[in-house]
Amino acid sequence: MAPPPAIYQNDQSYSESCLHETYQESLKKSSHYEIVLSTSSGASDSRSLINEALINRTSDIDHESCDAGEEDSFFVCDLGEVSRSLDLWKQKLPQVQPFYAVKCNTNLEIIKLLASSGCNFDCASKSEIDTVLSLGVSPDRIVYANPCKTNSFIRHSANRQISLTTVDNAQELYKLQKFHPTCGILIRIATDDSTAQCQLSSKFGCSLDAAVNELLPLAHDLGLNVRGVAFHVGSGAKDFTAIHRAVREARQIFDTAISQYGYGESMNVLDIGGGFERSSFHESSFEVNMALREYFPAEYSRKQKVRFIAEPGRFMVSKAFTLATHVIARRDNFKAEADQVPAMLYINDGVYGNLNCILFDHYNPKPFVLCHNNKFFYLDQENEIEIDANANGTHLFSIWGPTCDGLDCVSKQTNFVSDVHVGDWLYFPEVGAYTLAATTSFNGFSGNAEIVYVCSE
Ligand SMILES: Cc1ncc(COP(=O)(O)O)c(C=O)c1O
Repeated sequence: MAPPPAIYQNDQSYSESCLHETYQESLKKSSHYEIVLSTSSGASDSRSLINEALINRTSDIDHESCDAGEEDSFFVCDLGEVSRSLDLWKQKLPQVQPFYAVKCNTNLEIIKLLASSGCNFDCASKSEIDTVLSLGVSPDRIVYANPCKTNSFIRHSANRQISLTTVDNAQELYKLQKFHPTCGILIRIATDDSTAQCQLSSKFGCSLDAAVNELLPLAHDLGLNVRGVAFHVGSGAKDFTAIHRAVREARQIFDTAISQYGYGESMNVLDIGGGFERSSFHESSFEVNMALREYFPAEYSRKQKVRFIAEPGRFMVSKAFTLATHVIARRDNFKAEADQVPAMLYINDGVYGNLNCILFDHYNPKPFVLCHNNKFFYLDQENEIEIDANANGTHLFSIWGPTCDGLDCVSKQTNFVSDVHVGDWLYFPEVGAYTLAATTSFNGFSGNAEIVYVCSE
């Protein structure tokens, strides 16, 4: 089957305005979703748009008479937040082209927005590749960033003209020689990601020694097309000096590949992976800039025509999604000891659904009261900020998902100002990363939450 026409070409300047004009138009015309486009801009505007969407979606629902599932959990997605992430990226790392890690959140509106803004894509499977291509993104805007690939997926990527991938072991080089011998290869090296929220180097990445003494000579003997180096300092990285060490090792691999194996013409990609977050981007981008200046100075990079790329996931989408959940049940323990939680709240999303990040991403999203006694609190977030567990007048709860599994615990202990009960709503801000991408339908609870789009741009 012929691929669809590439509407998002590689020459799309990624320095163009973030919420690309044609994308804005298509959003307005979209019949699938209710999308509220704001004329003013900025983060404060984002809060009022999200508030409006939350109120609109929930205020008509009477849990005592509604149809089954009408009170299901749902997301509000602020696309303007994704644009602001991309803007910040361009501002701090203008020389590094982002390839959005699709695994983080495969939402099509996010992918379309990023594609139309010139962002490229990191895909790790056949399905991710097909999703991105189906939107008309040209294959040269995709890096197949999975160092251990299925043979048939390698053949599929060759058929689809994907021309860049990562490798960290000898077997993978043999596979590429057999199924996609012209593919550009980035040697993925391990990093010290011991303090990261999610470690990746225990599974992927070779040592500097293996890169230089095993993979480069083998790739050379097999006639493969080594293009550069990739690394990832762990998702939710905390120690950014790891970036510095990885860039230094990357330069050593560049030097060996060029001087000993004749890869002078082709060695021109450095992929600094993901691990970035908006909250720490000042420090992480500073470390990237320092390391690139030291090991890939302008003169060297110009001569070698080095292209810097990255694979940010969490950075792009984390802040853009807010999850609203309904309180479906409450159990009180009137005999609770002083050190026990006196009441349990049960909500209609949990660790098997959109809050799977608690298990898989080592991230505990913070719950807030959205609606109590038909009063909305989203704009009074501070009223629900954690209060000392022993303070008088606070209401202490544990919060549980809807399945029958005891593992399905969303929060062991949360303090609310309000005495939350059945029919109230809770919300979880900043849950765009590694949430809706990994839901299950365990116990018959579908993880496919509706998404209400707003756009504060
Ligand atoms: C190869 C690769 N690239 C990029 C990412 C995205 O990382 P993050 O969401 O921390 O930016 C991941 C996450 O697992 C990954 O495995």
